[in-house]
Amino acid sequence: MLFDGTEILIGKGAQAEVFLYKGFAYKVYKETYPAEWISFEKKQQREVNKAGLCPVRYYDTDDPHIIRMDYINGVMLEKIVNDCAAGKEVDEIADVPDGFRMLSKAFKFVHKADIRGLDFPRFSETAGMGLSKENAEKIIPVIERISAKTGECLCHLDMHFLNIMIPKDKSGFKIIDWMNARIAPAVFDYARTYVVLKEVSEEALNLYEATVLPDLKELRISEPDFSDAVEVCSIVRAREKA
Ligand SMILES: Nc1ncnc2c1ncn2[C@@H]1O[C@H](COP(=O)(O)OP(=O)(O)O)[C@@H](O)[C@H]1O
Ligand SMILES: [Mg+2]
Repeated sequence: MLFDGTEILIGKGAQAEVFLYKGFAYKVYKETYPAEWISFEKKQQREVNKAGLCPVRYYDTDDPHIIRMDYINGVMLEKIVNDCAAGKEVDEIADVPDGFRMLSKAFKFVHKADIRGLDFPRFSETAGMGLSKENAEKIIPVIERISAKTGECLCHLDMHFLNIMIPKDKSGFKIIDWMNARIAPAVFDYARTYVVLKEVSEEALNLYEATVLPDLKELRISEPDFSDAVEVCSIVRAREKA
């Protein structure tokens, strides 16, 4: 798969760069990125499409390290929130907390998905992968305990401003990057984002606490369960970054 020089870099993640080329988005993974993880990401996106959660189709290319995707002509919520914080005029949100309220809506949208018949892994079955025996034995019982108490739903488990896009056609937000999606108690989605935002800034965390976390009350999620979920997500996150 060769680009002809007209490709434009439109996004960058830890493991891949995304280019706009001839009307499609191309996710170009590092050569060292395992092929089976790319297959897994494609499978996840197929299930997401079946559930009607983000209609971005993935296509194979002749290079196993490159996925072609439907292009979302839009802006990352991150840019909108940053522009708004910098005092620039933006159409999409009224103020910075409004950006966080969009995050709240994104969680609810995912958690109410009808996933009967769809094939997503369960968090309790994958969360221990790559962890020390000690950490795995610490976190799995917590996930199972909270599952038994609150039930499970589809969780994105990497919901932040870089994974939410706002299309220019005003069709509402589109959630991307479903690699981490699992069947899990909803609290883990809120906890994962808490851990991610804590790495970003105290200000972001404060806004998240003020605008999104009150939703936990509505969901009847207790504070101790949230704290336990944060601890689980911190352990999983530390392994990802190692
Ligand atoms: N289908 C798409 N259309 C337009 N831009 C995209 C698309 N997919 C990804 N991007 C851009 O590329 C960035 C990285 O893509 P993402 O799938 O989140 O990769 P990573 O797994 O490395 O985080 C996104 O934040 C977004 O800006
Ligand atoms: Mg991403």
